[in-house]
Amino acid sequence: MKLEPSLRYSHTIMSQVIKSGDNVIDATVGKGNDTEFLSKLVKEHGKVYGFDLQKDAINITKKRLEKNNLNNTKLFNIGHEKIKEYVKDKINGAIFNLGYLPGGNKDIITKPKTTITAIKACLELLEKDGIIILVLYYGHPGGKTEKNTVIDFVKNLEQKEYSVLEYKFINQINEPPILIAIQKK
Ligand SMILES: C[S@@+](CC[C@H](N)C(=O)[O-])C[C@H]1O[C@@H](n2cnc3c(N)ncnc32)[C@H](O)[C@@H]1O
Repeated sequence: MKLEPSLRYSHTIMSQVIKSGDNVIDATVGKGNDTEFLSKLVKEHGKVYGFDLQKDAINITKKRLEKNNLNNTKLFNIGHEKIKEYVKDKINGAIFNLGYLPGGNKDIITKPKTTITAIKACLELLEKDGIIILVLYYGHPGGKTEKNTVIDFVKNLEQKEYSVLEYKFINQINEPPILIAIQKK
């Protein structure tokens, strides 16, 4: 067994919690790695809601899902701060991959205020035992402020209601991503 990098570990956790028929949110669709993964986990009776500000990201992911015959996903070219307006179902999980889209416009980054609004919306929708995963990249300008804001917020979630995990390699250079998992008790 090898310790997994944060991104891979996010899928390991999700695959243990999310089942066929569940509803989940991909809050940062990008090129659709997580969207495709979640879509396959929840299968045809489940639902994936995906959000991204970038039209290109939504289009790339739409094509990717079509190619894989996955049609349980609703993609929104809208900021995740609007989740509350667009998702009315209860959810069993959500993934946030914070930062900028690799290979894309590095100026389009997730921001502390909108990220927190979106996390709060997901917490309100989350079922018992459901999980929210945040993968925090913070090597880019603005990244550290977002990381600190997010960690301050999740650290203060009520212990009786949520278990909050921080997973990170503490001896690696170049600011490897940190994984935060929030499970509703
Ligand atoms: C690290 S990338 C996500 C990578 C993605 N999970 C994948 O598999 O390719 C972050 C994404 O967040 C998006 N983003 C930035 N601000 C956003 C917001 N307010 N709401 C939704 N998406 C946002 C960016 O456009 C970018 O595509």
